[in-house]
Amino acid sequence: MSRAASHLNFGWRFAPAAHPQYLEPGFDDSGLAVVDLPHSLVELPHTHALAESYAFAGTYRRPVDAGPLAPGHRALLHVDGALTASEVYLDGHRVGGHLGGWTPFTLDLTPHLDASGRGVLAVVVDGTERPDVPPFGGVVDYLGYAGLSREVRLEVVPPVHVADVVVRPSAVLSSSPTLEVGVELESVARRATRVRVDVTLQRLGDVVARAETSASAPAAAHGAPRSCLAVLRMEPGAVDLWQLQDPALYDLVVTVTGAGEVLDTASVRTGFREAEFRPDGFYLNGERLVLRGLNRHQSFPYVGAAMPRSAQRRDAEILVRDLGVQIVRLSHYPQSPHFLDACDELGLLVFEEMPGWQHIGDAEWQSRAVADVEAMVRRDRNRPSVVLWGVRINESPDDDAFYAATNARARALDPTRPTGGVRNVAGSRLLEDVYTYNDFGHRGTNRGLRPARDVTRARVPYLVTEHTGHMFPTKSYDHEGRRLEHALRHLRVLDAAYAAPDVAGAIGWCFVDYPTHREFGSGDRICHHGVLDAFRVPKTAAAGYASQQDATPVLEIGSAMIPGELDASEIRSLHVFTNCDEVRLFRDGEEVGTYLPDRDAYPALPHPPVVVTDLVGRLIERHEKFSRRDAERVKRILATALEVGVDGLCVRSRCWLTWFRLRYGLTRDKAIDLYLRYVAGWGSSAIRWDLEGYTDGVRVATARRCTDGAGRLDVQADTDTLVESVTYDVCRVVVRHVDGAGTRQVHTDVVIHLEAEGAGQIIGPTTVALVGGARAFWVRTNGGSGPLVVRVRSDRFEAQEVRLHVEKVPVA
Ligand code: GAL
Repeated sequence: MSRAASHLNFGWRFAPAAHPQYLEPGFDDSGLAVVDLPHSLVELPHTHALAESYAFAGTYRRPVDAGPLAPGHRALLHVDGALTASEVYLDGHRVGGHLGGWTPFTLDLTPHLDASGRGVLAVVVDGTERPDVPPFGGVVDYLGYAGLSREVRLEVVPPVHVADVVVRPSAVLSSSPTLEVGVELESVARRATRVRVDVTLQRLGDVVARAETSASAPAAAHGAPRSCLAVLRMEPGAVDLWQLQDPALYDLVVTVTGAGEVLDTASVRTGFREAEFRPDGFYLNGERLVLRGLNRHQSFPYVGAAMPRSAQRRDAEILVRDLGVQIVRLSHYPQSPHFLDACDELGLLVFEEMPGWQHIGDAEWQSRAVADVEAMVRRDRNRPSVVLWGVRINESPDDDAFYAATNARARALDPTRPTGGVRNVAGSRLLEDVYTYNDFGHRGTNRGLRPARDVTRARVPYLVTEHTGHMFPTKSYDHEGRRLEHALRHLRVLDAAYAAPDVAGAIGWCFVDYPTHREFGSGDRICHHGVLDAFRVPKTAAAGYASQQDATPVLEIGSAMIPGELDASEIRSLHVFTNCDEVRLFRDGEEVGTYLPDRDAYPALPHPPVVVTDLVGRLIERHEKFSRRDAERVKRILATALEVGVDGLCVRSRCWLTWFRLRYGLTRDKAIDLYLRYVAGWGSSAIRWDLEGYTDGVRVATARRCTDGAGRLDVQADTDTLVESVTYDVCRVVVRHVDGAGTRQVHTDVVIHLEAEGAGQIIGPTTVALVGGARAFWVRTNGGSGPLVVRVRSDRFEAQEVRLHVEKVPVA
């Protein structure tokens, strides 16, 4: 829900400690660091980030000014998220606290403000992974992070105010969809107040429907707020649907008036869509859709979860636009509202999940977990993108009492969406609506997925919520063959999901590499499970996902085409990730052949990769004066020699070689020369490989490989304008070591030095090594406006710079 507020994100004083004196209004905090929100208690290293490093409490202080409060008005503090537990004080008085860092909380500051509405706020944030707070208490495969990691705002609300708005579209596919609107009014007025509640439904600023009702807001109970619910029904007529390619959004604006005066206004966003999980799959707006998805951790190098709007949104853009996925699972906690806003706007479906990981704690812990479910559903139940609530602790054992409670809470607060609960045990007890299961059974050569019925034991809606992940950790700097196999494993699982009539889809593990605890990941404390690395730089698997969508042509070669990278220096085949109908391969400008997607290996996938196993094509016939049939024979023998060695050739091949010697003068030396030129690519300059992708006979994409020379640095920023508004803004800058054809040099050891000049600064270290041929970093605004120049130097290559611009947009 949005409404006018003062944003309290800039200029907090921060002490990396908790001490009673920090709570006192008179404490001189001028010596403390100045920080802005979102903020992480500590800056973490990229590798070997330790949970111990943030296992302490830090104090954030700043003055607040709610202005002189009119009678009955209240100043409410909204904290979007503070990892992992927080205590809030105003002028030294405790206002309240919150356990759990992934859900928002609201506190009433009013009783502690002075007559002018001012006071000094202190928020003590405990970053310890406390066993009494979900997800902690057991072993967890992700870091909890720490700090005032989301935004904070102050709202002054009148005696009767809109505390919440719930919007429930129904019959959206009919000619007369309806909208049920619940407006929760909270009152601290001394007497019951008669109010009128007006709601308008707006599309791009135009009112498309209206409704009104009256309500009696109850009197406060001994000063404590009481609430009532006003329910309205709207019939907007024909509506634009929220669809993946065109996610139409509507605003619902609420105005509350009393005695002829506007008392309060608020608005929420909604969309009209029908999302159903059925035993025969997932249906969006009546059409079956096999869900291709990825799991996302809200995790960024150096700052953990604490990134502002644009970085959170950028992840959704990468998922939709670069990877073409249709669903994201928020593993394993409610994530930034900015990310979810982008999901609503870009058409990315969301499976949102309560905080947890395998461990179920005691009764108190469980009641906190139920409260997390409540906070999650309340926060996000108006979002059209959210199609499923995760109400089980990820991969935990059955616990009927606990899960009856989580399911009941989610269903009571939102009867319109199904629940799921992610498990890793087949045949476990299903209290949810959708059987959601992590299927890690694929090992490269076996089937991609277990049959649904083997897992569910009943005919119920079924969604695969994780696969691949730790079964095949793959670093961005791994051997090419491993990076390729990583991509193919994801595609084999997806192929199996597409083939199964009773699987709603498959959500891969995972979007980006993430730091973790000792028990998981490589020795660097990173789980290299992402299809992108932690800096959001794509691995080969990213091309596998990207090629499954139809919005833009994709043509990515799954090899650097460097023989020495491969076993026995042999390029035996070439995988091309593409959504084109066919691809044509050229060697130094000459056509080698035309190749089709490998439907035999991936019968159900929308776009199987093209697998080129003949990299010589008709070149020998054209250049070496062999007849067509003999050229094919020579090629085959050379190919066999590639596999078994010249000495391993069979008698028949040797006979042919004798015949070629007699017929064409192909001596042993000449045969070796042929082999080296056509197969090994020795001699001359580096071979230039070009690919062209055709759809409906039209060339729609090209790709090239040609590695020669030392290469250069390529520096690209995600945007050219940063906008500082309710808080600072960031921009990711990606540095890559590339060759002349633009191919990333995965095995480089280049070190880069980073500098920012002007209205911004670099987040994290400024001297870093490229990892897997690339490295990204984020620059942030620092209060100024105007040019921001980012320079990247290295000892090896010419320095590069990107010129950005910072705008300051005052908050309305
Ligand atoms: C799953 C778990 C994930 C992650 C993944 C690694 O079992 O749910 O959080 O640990 O394994 O593949």
